[in-house]
Order: sequence, then structure tokens, then C-alpha cells
Amino acid sequence: MRLFAALLVLLVLTVALAGKGGRSKGRNRIRGRGRGSRAGAVKRFAAECKEYVEDGKKVLDCQERQLTTIPLGWPDDIEHLLLARNKIRILRNDAFAQFRYLKSLDLQQNEISHIEEGAFNGLSQLSILLLQHNRLQLLTEEVLLPMPRLHHLRLHDNPWRCDCQLDSLVRTLQLPSNRNMGNFAKCAEPSALWGQKLKKVDLELMCPDLQGSSGARPQLPQQQGGSSRPRPPAIQRHPDATSLCHTYMSPKPLLDCKNRELKIVPPDIPGYIVKMDLSSNNITQLRPKEFLAAKELKLLNLSSNNLQQIDMAAFAGLLYLRELDLSNNSLHYFQYGVLEDLYFLRKLSLGNNLWMCDYNIHYLIYWLKHHPSVEYSGLVCSDPPEFRGWPVENYVKTYNAECPKDKQVAPQTDNDQGGTTVQELTADLEEEALPSPIRVHDKFEIIRLS
Ligand SMILES: *[C@@H]1O[C@H](CO)[C@@H](O)[C@H](O)[C@H]1NC(C)=O
Ligand SMILES: *[C@@H]1O[C@H](CO)[C@@H](O)[C@H](O)[C@H]1NC(C)=O
Ligand SMILES: *[C@@H]1O[C@H](CO)[C@@H](O)[C@H](O)[C@H]1NC(C)=O
Repeated sequence: MRLFAALLVLLVLTVALAGKGGRSKGRNRIRGRGRGSRAGAVKRFAAECKEYVEDGKKVLDCQERQLTTIPLGWPDDIEHLLLARNKIRILRNDAFAQFRYLKSLDLQQNEISHIEEGAFNGLSQLSILLLQHNRLQLLTEEVLLPMPRLHHLRLHDNPWRCDCQLDSLVRTLQLPSNRNMGNFAKCAEPSALWGQKLKKVDLELMCPDLQGSSGARPQLPQQQGGSSRPRPPAIQRHPDATSLCHTYMSPKPLLDCKNRELKIVPPDIPGYIVKMDLSSNNITQLRPKEFLAAKELKLLNLSSNNLQQIDMAAFAGLLYLRELDLSNNSLHYFQYGVLEDLYFLRKLSLGNNLWMCDYNIHYLIYWLKHHPSVEYSGLVCSDPPEFRGWPVENYVKTYNAECPKDKQVAPQTDNDQGGTTVQELTADLEEEALPSPIRVHDKFEIIRLS
């Protein structure tokens, strides 16, 4: 048995090495071809598309090029192929067979309505395949077979016809091990199953004949769907992030919700999203825990909305957020505690807001002072008129100079039963009565000063 395993490893290694040899030969051939007659084709495509290297991986970016087919003559050693927003309608057999090293293939926002069974032949390394926002009604499991490494498959926003022909695909998607495949894709037909997720749709309702059911069963879903559950309006009322926005998987998972007239942060942000662009919408407030599921988020862009209010728990869970853009909004101050979840924040854009230079602004300045690694910009008083145009830090310095420490502490000792005012909070801050992460920094600073 062991010998057999060893032999198998050897065989795999040999094949892999042979593959590498083939690969470099392939490259030479392409370079060699540079002088030959097909060079024109290579160069022309290379010029129309953008070829570059990202994280050591070769990327061919042919997005938005009005392409209707997959042209021949592209370099075959690329690892990421971006074909989003073209006009491709059909994927023919062996369309990608030359791209043996391809790891991700982005075909979203085309007009694809048919994929031949062998379209993805040869894509043995492919792990990410994006087919969302197309016109697919039908796809069978066979189409996926040439891609044993596939683990991210996007199929949403296609008009899936949920009948027996889709059975094998749906069964594959519903396997627990395929948890990143086909999420958010929904049935468009038949009407009884409209809006059901492929991940969750009941196979017996979808294809009663295969289950060997009696003739009575197919009637059941229609009656249920028609009378007791008016599904379409329910779903339209709560569109989720992936149907409202565009997802891009390469180079980093990005959820692009820019300029979509959103009034709220869309629900169900997928957990693997690393960058989220919500700029240029009409979001006026951030509610508690809006981003709780987005555990990987590193960049959040909320610029050019109409943000006036941010709940204290709005950023809960954004432990790894590094960059937050809140510029060009209508913020007056940050409520006490808003920033406490952002442990790893490095950049905070605050320009073009309505920062109000009064007691309420002290929390923000205090937080920034104790998080010196955060690079921030645009913190300028907009009101009251006597401070307009001042850097907020200067206003706070003036305030502290005018108001000696004993006076700040006084109201707190007089009135510790009453509701906390911001003035008292400022006093609290001076007394180190703070949540533990900040207190540690505070102590550190005292040591540094003495
Ligand atoms: C944003 O929302 C407000 C109130 O809901 C509305 O008056 C305004 O026209 C909206 N602006 C845009 C650009 O949609
Ligand atoms: C946020 O979006 C705005 C407008 O789309 C853009 O100008 C800005 O550079 C973005 N900010 C970041 C940090 O990417
Ligand atoms: C600021 O946001 C408004 C809409 O809220 C937009 O019209 C304007 O272009 C934005 N300005 C900048 C500099 O992005």
C-alpha cells in the first residue's frame, strides 16, 4: 500500500514537472511568435487588453471590451482572466482549453445564455469562476467536472429555471462541502419557486418526477406559493448586498455598491469581502452591527453619502478594518464609543463633513490621540462660526487651556447619579475611567510623559 502511495507521488511529481517544462516551452513559443505572422494577433489582443502581474500572478484584464467571443491568441500562461462586462453570449466547447494555469475566470455581466458541456475543459487549476449577472437558465453538473479545484462559484442574478434539468447542478451546490458555490443564486422559474435560493430549494418540489412521487405532488408547490406566501414582494423589499452590488473576486474580493442610490447599507454582506465601496449613495445613518458578518473587511468606503448619524455599535466586528473613508458626509461628531471596535485602523478620511467644535467632538480627538498609528485627514471645524476653519485639535487645545482640569472633573463629583453628559465623559476620560483597550494606551502614555 505504502509502495503504491510512493509510486503515486512520484507519478504526480513527474506529471507536474512535465507540466512546468511544457509551460516554459509554451512561453518561448509565444515570444518566438512575436516575430512571426501570428504576432500581430498576440500584440493586438495584448494592446486591447491589459496584461500585468499582481502578487506574482499574471493577469489579463479584458473587461469592458465589447467582446462577443473568447478570441484566440492570448498568452496561455495567465492565471487570472478578467472578461467582465463584455457581450459574450455563448461559451463553446474548449473555449478556455489553452489556459491551463488559470486560477480565476471572471465572466460576470456578460450576456451568457448557453454554456456547452465542455466549455471549461482543461481548467484543472481553476478555483474561482464568476458567472453572475448573465442570462443563464440552465447549467448541468457536467460543465463543472473539468474543474476539480473549483471552490468559488458565483451564479446569482441569472434567470435560473428550477426544473429537473437543473437537478444535478442544484444537488452539487447543496453539498455541505461546496459552501462557496452558488450562494445567492435564485430560481426565476417556475413561478411557484420564484425567489428560492438554489442552495435551499427543495429538490422534491423542484423535480417531483425524479423522486418517484405520485401525480398529486407537483400541484403542491403552486398552491402553497400562490396563496399563503406572496414571495416576490417579500424579496423585493429586502434585496441583499450581492444582488444590489457587483462582486469581484480578483485581485481581492470587492463588493462594489458605488452609486446605486442606496438609502441603507444592504443586508447579507458576504463574509469573504475584503473591500466594500458604498460611496456616492444616499445613506443617512449607520445602524448597529451593519457590518458584523463582514469579518474580513479591510477597506470600507462610505464617502459622499449623506451620513449624519453613526450608531455606537455600527462598526462592531470590523476587527481587521484598516481604512475607513467617511469623507464628504454630514457628520457633526462621533458618539462616544463608535470607534472602539476598530483595533487595526490605519487610515481615516474625515474631510468635508460638518464637524461641530463643541464638547461632543472631544471623544474623537481623545481616540485619535490614543491611536497614534491612525493617519487621519480633514478634521476641520465647520461650526460654531467662531471656530470655523480651525483644525479640531486646535479647538480642543484651546478648550483645555481655558478649562483647567479641576473644573472639568467638578461636575462629575457633584452629580454621579444623573445621566452622563459628554462633559462628564471628558472628565471620565481624564480620570482614566475608560474601557480597557484605551486604558492600556493611556497608562503607556503617562509613563512616556514622566
Ligand atoms: C437622498 O434622500 C433624501 C431624503 O431621503 C432626498 O431628499 C434626496 O433627494 C436624496 N438624494 C439623492 C441624490 O437621491
Ligand atoms: C472612496 O470613493 C470615492 C468616490 O468613489 C473615491 O474618490 C475615494 O478615493 C475612495 N476612497 C478610498 C479610500 O478608496
Ligand atoms: C460630495 O457628495 C455629493 C453628494 O452627496 C456629490 O454630489 C459631490 O460630488 C461629492 N463631492 C466630492 C468632492 O466627492
